[in-house]
Amino acid sequence: MPPVQRGIDRIVDGVRHPWVTTDEILEAMKTFEVRTDDIWVITYPKAGTTWMQEIVSILYHGCDIQKADEISILKRFLFLDQQKTDVPPHNEAMRMPSPRLIKTHLPPKHMAKQLIIKKPKIVYVGRNPKDNAVSLYNFHRANTYLRTYETWDEFFDAFCADDVIDGSWFDMNIYWWSLRNEENVLFIKYEDMRKDLASVIERVSKFFGWSIPDKKLQDIVKHCTFDSMKKNPKTNFSDCENIDQSLSAFMRKGEVGDWKNYFTKAQNAKFDKLYADRMKGSSLVFEFEL
Ligand code: A3P
Repeated sequence: MPPVQRGIDRIVDGVRHPWVTTDEILEAMKTFEVRTDDIWVITYPKAGTTWMQEIVSILYHGCDIQKADEISILKRFLFLDQQKTDVPPHNEAMRMPSPRLIKTHLPPKHMAKQLIIKKPKIVYVGRNPKDNAVSLYNFHRANTYLRTYETWDEFFDAFCADDVIDGSWFDMNIYWWSLRNEENVLFIKYEDMRKDLASVIERVSKFFGWSIPDKKLQDIVKHCTFDSMKKNPKTNFSDCENIDQSLSAFMRKGEVGDWKNYFTKAQNAKFDKLYADRMKGSSLVFEFEL
């Protein structure tokens, strides 16, 4: 394991990766054994991964919120992209009993190759790129594994150039949107979770073929609100040693439209042009305000 250092990242096959996403992990993804009964939550970083993990794990535990929350969200899913201990995540995965809960932000290029063949259930969460970018910028401030950007402007330029960790927002979201009609893929938008969490929870439970006992739905919705998850030590990352929440809280704002506090007029115009260009040919649309 290399020592923990801020700012050490590198480009692999055109994609920027932090040092914790080691070459060994990326190499292992070429042969990583995916199991058909795995449960994967896949996102571009900061799109609402933790929110979806909380929902999936509660439903997985038969809607027993207490049972799901017995352990930290950090330990409920295997994070495939980071080697934090001497045991790399792909080796840890081999020892895990089925069904395994796995989370990853790996870009299509570096994704476990067997995912497409083995077809385990995959929930993908996408978030509009403006809010996604703002959230990722702030996360870089808090996450001591990542470099800090001197200014929002610097990060904005890197994001537009696909030169941030895990690569291009566009490539990732367009790829997963193209797979949205696969039987094993559920594509959820962060903005829909904000608008109507109950419906999203129902969609997720239906997708897995799990049921929600009477009256439990509202309890889950309440438990998964921003305020509730921010207070909850099992979901707010207070136990994550590499996140300094005095710099930026993990449960930061949880809003749609916070980008307006960051994007200048010129940046917004530049991004709108880029967005129109890059999304051409895809039917994927996002809401930028509610
Ligand atoms: P902000 O930085 O915009 O607040 P991830 O889990 O992929 O790292 O995503 C983190 C983002 O999701 C953060 O966004 C966080 O606040 C938001 N989030 C997490 N739980 C949420 C919830 N229950 N409701 C709304 N947003 C939530």
